[in-house]
Amino acid sequence: MKTEILKLLRETDGYVSGQQISRKLDVSRTAVWKVIRRLQEEGYQVEAVRNKGYRIADSPDLVTKEELDSLIKTRWAGRNILCFDVTDSTNLRIRQAGDAGAPHGTLAVADSQTAGRGRRGRSWESPAGNSIYMSILLRPQIPPEKASMITLVMALSVAEGITRCLGENAGADGSGADAGAASGIRIKWPNDIIINGKKLAGILTEMSAQIDYIDHVTVGVGINVNTVDFPEEIKETATSVRKEYGRLVKRAPLIAAVMERLEENYQMFLRTEDLSGLMDRYNDLLVNRDRDVLIIGAKEKYQAHSMGIDRTGELVVRKDDGTIEKIYSGEVSVRGVYGYT
Ligand code: BTN
Repeated sequence: MKTEILKLLRETDGYVSGQQISRKLDVSRTAVWKVIRRLQEEGYQVEAVRNKGYRIADSPDLVTKEELDSLIKTRWAGRNILCFDVTDSTNLRIRQAGDAGAPHGTLAVADSQTAGRGRRGRSWESPAGNSIYMSILLRPQIPPEKASMITLVMALSVAEGITRCLGENAGADGSGADAGAASGIRIKWPNDIIINGKKLAGILTEMSAQIDYIDHVTVGVGINVNTVDFPEEIKETATSVRKEYGRLVKRAPLIAAVMERLEENYQMFLRTEDLSGLMDRYNDLLVNRDRDVLIIGAKEKYQAHSMGIDRTGELVVRKDDGTIEKIYSGEVSVRGVYGYT
């Protein structure tokens, strides 16, 4: 009932009376009042005015199931939520949920992780109270070799979701779908979200598949939202939304915004089974586009001019001798000639 009451309070511009709520939800006014009291105890600023009713003035920065359920308005992305105060890794929770038959779009969110995992076997610092750690379960009916593109779909959705959440000042119309460039948020191919040359978010995609069939895909996202102090090792390369924009951002609406962007972008991806409908927007946000980059492979390292991604998500680069090469994300790391980006 808490979720429904939160939804009703949020849907209404002004006050909503206790009677309206009790009628809509078919519960007593006392029961409504008790939930309102509980919400207030949790930090929600719900104003109660005689003869008018209730109005929600502000919400705390909580990543609870009720908070997320009341904010996420998608059809499938994040509609089934597993919430944890602490877990080892949301990617592990989703892989397990996937194996147990959980539906497409199931989302695991944690306030902190004890074994947060990054790409290339690295760990992902996951302290409580200020960041987003979430993983979503996808069941795409596409050949396994196309799954790597999903990471790029998520990167675009995270960049757009953050931009949308930052609101009108962040871009031309604040919609997020085309405001990313103005917000300063960029993608470092294939899937780091950066701002001012520092990393804001990372994505870890893992797949459970047969040779010709995907069982499920887990896409994990870590976003530094309100972090102020980073560990020594990443201090120079990591940043947060709060550090860059100088304001606290609530995590649950940000998760909801990413889910909305993901649902739309993923549907577009499935229609063509490639990135043809998304690559223009992705390339607009790509920090290493039209720039000289260092391609660092297992055997060789060379400088080239990056031209952006193609419809398969490969990075197209022009080598010094004029030849064009396509870089597959699994095999190399791409860095700016002068540093991380
Ligand atoms: C990277 O190395 O850039 C990827 C980092 C991905 C971190 C997220 S946090 C939520 C999810 N659970 C994990 O253990 N990892 C991902």
